[in-house]
Amino acid sequence: MAQGKPDQPAHAADEGAPAAPVIRSTAALAAAMPAGPSNTDIELRLLMEAIYLRYSYDFRDYAGASQKRRVLHALAQFDCPTISELQARVLHDPTMFHQLLQYLTIPVSEMFRDPAFFLALRQQVVPRLATYASIKVWIAGCSTGEEVYSLAILLREEGLLDRALIYATDINPESLEKARQGIFSLESIRGHTRNYQKAGGKRAFSDYYTAAYNAAVFDKSLRENITFADHSLATDSVFSETQLISCRNVLIYFNKKLQDRAFGLFHESLCHRGFLVLGSKETLDFSGYANQFEPLVKQERIYRKL
Ligand SMILES: C[S@@+](CC[C@H](N)C(=O)[O-])C[C@H]1O[C@@H](n2cnc3c(N)ncnc32)[C@H](O)[C@@H]1O
Repeated sequence: MAQGKPDQPAHAADEGAPAAPVIRSTAALAAAMPAGPSNTDIELRLLMEAIYLRYSYDFRDYAGASQKRRVLHALAQFDCPTISELQARVLHDPTMFHQLLQYLTIPVSEMFRDPAFFLALRQQVVPRLATYASIKVWIAGCSTGEEVYSLAILLREEGLLDRALIYATDINPESLEKARQGIFSLESIRGHTRNYQKAGGKRAFSDYYTAAYNAAVFDKSLRENITFADHSLATDSVFSETQLISCRNVLIYFNKKLQDRAFGLFHESLCHRGFLVLGSKETLDFSGYANQFEPLVKQERIYRKL
């Protein structure tokens, strides 16, 4: 076939007429674009995918709105104009990823956070735990350790700490290191002390720490039976035969699929009639595991495996 013009013109109207302009206005292009996720949402997904591929941290199933807020906050702090640019920096620089991790993981905690919960734990769960010869506790998402020391103090006061093994896990290595050290700012101690008293504390809170400079150094003996370890609810597997699992203020950052994964791990890790406790804004209701647990103190999110 002879080279040159195609046999049929693409549009009959093209014949003999000057070529129609093909460049449309930006507004026309935008109007022609199908409705879909915003550029920010696309960039956010790509960032999480890149983090997973490069560092094996899986943030892909975290709740979108709060994740977006935290990444946008990080952008401002890092002086980074777009999420795509942040992605490039994170991919090529592990230090940058480590910094971003501090925004993605929300390392915020308090001792005896929600005192009414700790009071209910002391009054309703501890007497039942006391029936076991040895007690395994898993604190998932322990952050900087405030929850772990609170539980250790409570178990000591109830005479159970010596026969307890506590696994305190998190994905943020910096938080885990702080938790291991058990040193908290003196500034925060007043609030912790108030919480401890409301939670039914039996001694003077200052019995548990020594003040040094601006810090409260917690009694080393509290952590003799505690193992701090890296563990992700998004990618890792179960612990076996635990009597109590505490996962507070973590699932709130997950979407339903990831919450169900975590509930599956907890269900498998708990012994028969084991206890699961969640944060005040978290619930088993509407999850795929709702009928595998019964509420023991519903108001305080204390559940028991059926
Ligand atoms: C707001 S803090 C809660 C700390 C503590 N549980 C409390 O209630 O005070 C949330 C913690 O969950 C941890 N976290 C986030 N994603 C996680 C995951 N996939 N597996 C385990 N921990 C996770 C974070 O690193 C952070 O330390």
